[in-house]
Amino acid sequence: MSQNSKISLSVNNWVNQVLGAAKHNVPAAQASAYAPSNIALSKYWGKREASFNLPVTSSLSISLAKHGTNTGLSVIDALAHQVILNGEEVDATGNFAIKVTQWLDRVLPRNLKLRIDTVNTVPTAAGLASSASGFAALTLATNSLMGWQLTKRQLSALARLGSGSASRSLWHGFVKWQAGEQADGSDSVAFPLQQQWPQLKMGLLTISSQTKAVSSREGMARTIATSPLYKQWPQQAELDLAVIEAAIEANDFETMAKTAEHNAMSMHATMSAAWPPLVYWQPESLTQMQKVWQLREQGLPLYLTMDAGPNLKLLFEAKHQTDVEAAFAEVQIISPFGTTC
Ligand code: DP6
Repeated sequence: MSQNSKISLSVNNWVNQVLGAAKHNVPAAQASAYAPSNIALSKYWGKREASFNLPVTSSLSISLAKHGTNTGLSVIDALAHQVILNGEEVDATGNFAIKVTQWLDRVLPRNLKLRIDTVNTVPTAAGLASSASGFAALTLATNSLMGWQLTKRQLSALARLGSGSASRSLWHGFVKWQAGEQADGSDSVAFPLQQQWPQLKMGLLTISSQTKAVSSREGMARTIATSPLYKQWPQQAELDLAVIEAAIEANDFETMAKTAEHNAMSMHATMSAAWPPLVYWQPESLTQMQKVWQLREQGLPLYLTMDAGPNLKLLFEAKHQTDVEAAFAEVQIISPFGTTC
């Protein structure tokens, strides 16, 4: 037996153990669910184990309210799943369809095939973590279709198998994903923090909404294998997370946002020291970053974070929204704790 089939067998064993007899429940005809996208303030970059998607460090994110994914599922009489993304059937051999069908084949009885209708309200794979909301919505919808009645903790672990950051997208607000220690990842699950921060705003500066050239999965593996700077990353990530968590509790915007920006810049420095270099920024990303730093020097409390893509996410408080909108004509404002944006 190859190493790969041994590993996937143990993931399958774990899934069967979690689902138990419910794996063979009679499905409803259809079900749907919504999950918000999320942006990490303290990032997940690196896996300690790839088949279960287990992270090297814990991470902490904020969910993007109504910006996320709606997933509808219906049972079809066919030999293969049918994957629809934003209204169009996707190529069954493409990355997205393969990841979705692999996840479904793990959790469903062998002969059950579905039509999966995914509608994203964020650009796919532009560093806006649509895989996070996608797998979270798929997990919630499947739980409902199959009547599994699993706990949120179990669903978080199942969503993680699709994409690590999906483990955090089952909740609104601030969410922490605990790295955990178990080999099967049963303690590598996310949970929501109680704190609300209605004044906190996020601004999206979309530089490009094209699919990224190097997936997070591949990028993480390359960074761990070749970046000499990765040695210091786990220690900094855990420290940043602790500072951010305390700042959220204390409602201390400056400390929270400054640490989030520093965490993102450190992650990107670590990636760019990989070989071949891993640089997700485009020239326009840097132009906008410099603009943020300039505005900050002029006294505007404005910070940024970036994921594995060229887009910027600005962090600021509601009282500065007019200034931010005046400086960035194209900014899309998100209110993570609001009801209207
Ligand atoms: C930079 O969760 O997309 O956005 O687990 O391989 O699917 P996989 O990776 P993914 O990585 C997200 C990386 C990040 C940081 C973060 O969201 O914590």
